[in-house]
Amino acid sequence: MPYRDLRDWLERLENEGELLRISKEISLEPDVGAIGDAVCAIEGPGIFAEKIAGFRIPLTIGLHASFRRTAMAMDLLKDTSRRQQVKTWIDAYDRYPVKAKVVSDAPCKENILTREKVNLFQFPIPRIHANDASFYISKPMCITKDPESDWINVGMYRMMVLGKNRTAVMVVSAGQHFRYHLRKYLEAGKPMEMAVAIGTEPVLPMIAGMKIPAGWNEYDYAGAVRKEPEELVKGETVDLPVPARAEIVLEGILRTDTQVLEGPFAEHTGAYSGCFWTPVFEIQAITYRNNPIYDCLFVGKPYNESVYMTMLSALAGLQQEIQAMFPQVTELAYHLPYLYNVVVQGKWGHAGEPKRVMNGLWGSRWGASIKMITVVDEDIDPWDEKQVLWAIAARCQADKDIVMIPGSEGNLDPSKDPDDSSCKLGIDATKSRPPFYRHRPVHWVEPRERTEEWKDKILLQWQKGGR
Ligand SMILES: Cc1cc2nc3c(=O)[nH]c(=O)nc-3n(C[C@H](O)[C@H](O)[C@H](O)COP(=O)(O)O)c2cc1C
Repeated sequence: MPYRDLRDWLERLENEGELLRISKEISLEPDVGAIGDAVCAIEGPGIFAEKIAGFRIPLTIGLHASFRRTAMAMDLLKDTSRRQQVKTWIDAYDRYPVKAKVVSDAPCKENILTREKVNLFQFPIPRIHANDASFYISKPMCITKDPESDWINVGMYRMMVLGKNRTAVMVVSAGQHFRYHLRKYLEAGKPMEMAVAIGTEPVLPMIAGMKIPAGWNEYDYAGAVRKEPEELVKGETVDLPVPARAEIVLEGILRTDTQVLEGPFAEHTGAYSGCFWTPVFEIQAITYRNNPIYDCLFVGKPYNESVYMTMLSALAGLQQEIQAMFPQVTELAYHLPYLYNVVVQGKWGHAGEPKRVMNGLWGSRWGASIKMITVVDEDIDPWDEKQVLWAIAARCQADKDIVMIPGSEGNLDPSKDPDDSSCKLGIDATKSRPPFYRHRPVHWVEPRERTEEWKDKILLQWQKGGR
């Protein structure tokens, strides 16, 4: 059975040695940020901090900060390979939609605060890094509806706390589905209803940070991944479905008649983002469970929790999109620092194909933010950094195999130009092949036929003590 809520997930993590409870009092600042950083650096356990000085509500951080726990989130064994996890996300595309169901048992409504009782400061919302502009809700699932259809979107967008009932929401990128919805309200000059879920079963936050196709409902894709429908309830003051078992739900409107300057914020690139003009979320109600838990994540220098949480699901979306355009692509992999560094493995025919694939990736919705693409052949494991570096060293000549596209979308690239643009880098590290040789013809060395067999034998015997 998949987890129904955050509490089920915590129980499983605890049973499998993947959760550390900190019972001694810690500070909201700097302890929470430091703990998140430490967990990510050592791929340590998720953290349940029971006492935060000045708060009555406990906090969890780092729950998604390892590939073991991203596997467990999907109810897989914790040693499931990254490759297999990507496949699990892809397989769920075929099961979409598993329609969410509306339920009457909704623990998220156990406590309801409205109007002047709304107060974000009752929750231990940390400022993760020293120069973040404010406290940030770092793992919010923002729920909105298209005004012209039934399309519900759940997207993750950082929220800077502006006061006890106001936040900024960082939605500036034109390709985001949240932005599609918002644009229509902006054009109509109307505010947009929004709900924000914090602390749910573990698949939904991963999907909120994932680019599924336009028009798809994240709840119904979560159902396809979990093989079990999400449980929803109508918001208390907004006409939006919210996760019935969420720890905390914020409800309100996104103002379309005013903007605030948001940021800086320590981003997943390892650098502070600049400031952005963003809309303001006015919170009219907060609903929460008895004994709520505030769930947050660590963003900062890679690897960070947002990398672990979304890297493999992002790859699944990217692979779906690119294989529809180029069936000759066999596999994709992300290398540190993930979003910006993709390796494409394929069965190439024409000498120009690797460069065509680069263009396809940069032109896709998923691929627009990729900075570096390395294209390799089928004999290179795209996940193996050593093999990829060897392919670059052995099969690439800088004068003809490197592609540069200056003036491209800069996004959050820390080294982008002052005009917000950045230069894409493509590396064709594929073999030169007949009849169009890029390089001098080479006879590549193949492994002897029993090498794989011997690898297994040697490892086995070695593990047994070498005899
Ligand atoms: C932890 C985390 C924080 C994110 N914050 C933002 C953000 O502030 N602004 C943004 O444009 N995208 C942000 N993203 C990326 C979006 O969540 C992602 O592009 C997602 O696919 C958007 O969903 P949508 O297009 O369905 O709205 C974040 C992702 C994660 C995992």
